[in-house]
Amino acid sequence: MQNSKPVIMSPSLLSADFTRLGEELDKLEKAGVSWVHWDIMDGAFVPNITFGPPVIKACRKNSGLFFDVHLMIEKPDKYLKDFVEAGADLLCVHAEACVHLERTVSRIAELGAKPAVSLNPHTPLSVLEYILPQLHMVLIMSVNPGFGGQKFIPFSMQKISRLKSMIREHKTDVLIQVDGGVTPDNTYELVQNGADVLVSGSAFFGFPPYDQRLKTFEHAAAGDVS
Ligand code: DX5
Ligand code: ZN
Repeated sequence: MQNSKPVIMSPSLLSADFTRLGEELDKLEKAGVSWVHWDIMDGAFVPNITFGPPVIKACRKNSGLFFDVHLMIEKPDKYLKDFVEAGADLLCVHAEACVHLERTVSRIAELGAKPAVSLNPHTPLSVLEYILPQLHMVLIMSVNPGFGGQKFIPFSMQKISRLKSMIREHKTDVLIQVDGGVTPDNTYELVQNGADVLVSGSAFFGFPPYDQRLKTFEHAAAGDVS
């Protein structure tokens, strides 16, 4: 089931130095990273609070990275426009936070961003059955969202592989993103099971320089252990 495309790394800014966000983004870009993951938390959907559209807008001015925005917030519809205007390239909403998921996903596309849906670890894939062709990406949460540095939940591996089969059955090319507890040690298995985009916070920012760390993940994804 291996992917033919090279894996995309999306480092999670949750583990970056918040006093130097602009510099961190610049360093990522110079290291050869193309995506960056923004964890938006509202203290209601998840027990933690991070940043909102003004921070993204300020950082957008000096960054050419693809802004992958993970909305861990209740009632995301109220803020979709704000995030797109701030510079989000992709907006990922949680299925658990959306009463009318099809409407939310269509709205993201109308606003000009790439629509994505995230599932908490316990949420079955069946919630995606009809919406899958409208999505650019599905995010499989491999920890319960809210914090960085948690342990990968093992059953996520099977969930990724089942989602890959579902995507093939639908004959679409929706990307699979995995977020939570991703390290170079589980990268190869994740990619073998169908992951296209890997989010990494603590296991990325904790190991500078970033160009070397990116290579470590890319080699791991390719099964190159030398
Ligand atoms: C967790 C966030 C993740 C987090 C991952 O709720 O969605 O993006 O930053 O952190 P690590 O890679 O440290 O598990
Ligand atoms: Zn995330």
